[in-house]
Amino acid sequence: MATRAFLLTSLLLSCLLQICSGAYFSSLQRTLIVTASPKAGEVLKSGEDKITVTWGLNQSYPAGTDSAYKTVKVKLCYAPISQVDRAWRKTVDHLTKDKTCQHKIVSQPYKASNNSVEWTIEKDVPTATYFIRAYAYDAEDQEVAYGQTTDAHKTTNLFGIEAITGRHASLDIAAVCFSAFSVVSLCGFFWVEKRKSRVAK
Ligand SMILES: *[C@@H]1O[C@H](CO)[C@@H](O)[C@H](O)[C@H]1NC(C)=O
Ligand SMILES: *[C@@H]1O[C@H](CO)[C@@H](O)[C@H](O)[C@H]1NC(C)=O
Repeated sequence: MATRAFLLTSLLLSCLLQICSGAYFSSLQRTLIVTASPKAGEVLKSGEDKITVTWGLNQSYPAGTDSAYKTVKVKLCYAPISQVDRAWRKTVDHLTKDKTCQHKIVSQPYKASNNSVEWTIEKDVPTATYFIRAYAYDAEDQEVAYGQTTDAHKTTNLFGIEAITGRHASLDIAAVCFSAFSVVSLCGFFWVEKRKSRVAK
């Protein structure tokens, strides 16, 4: 019984850790070059300031690299300064379903070059440090490649956004983890109940 409880707890904890750090272990090829208008360290205002993002295929990859790319989604991603030197988060590997990329800027058919979009920062973007990432998706809507304005460790070219409302991103992240935890706990609860009723029969 103690072992089972221990296993269940570990399972819950590891699920929670994975969900919170966006860990779905996959490594995508970084074939897109993405640039954005804010200078490193610049602080912009949500609901007012605009960001220009450009993206395209890195031409050093051989022709055909992008043959499976169908759509591109450009996202605003949260880069918590406090995470920068926590190696255990392995930010490089946790690229797909990244919970820190919550704000979609644009989604459109893939084109190898000359893509550009001007985006007014939405009002609900909370105060935090950010970068921009673009994902390429295949016909099955799976991420197949990406590009971003920062390095693999999310330390360079970061810019700030200041919310008019004073909302802070850590609240959003806490909310995501909390709801994920609730779902996981509920599943765990039903699993335990089901086992109990099976034992009773
Ligand atoms: C393009 O790809 C090459 C080869 O992977 C890489 O060395 C180079 O840094 C990339 N260029 C940019 C601007 O990311
Ligand atoms: C991209 O734009 C440049 C200059 O505006 C132009 O010379 C080039 O042909 C364009 N490339 C594509 C693929 O449209």
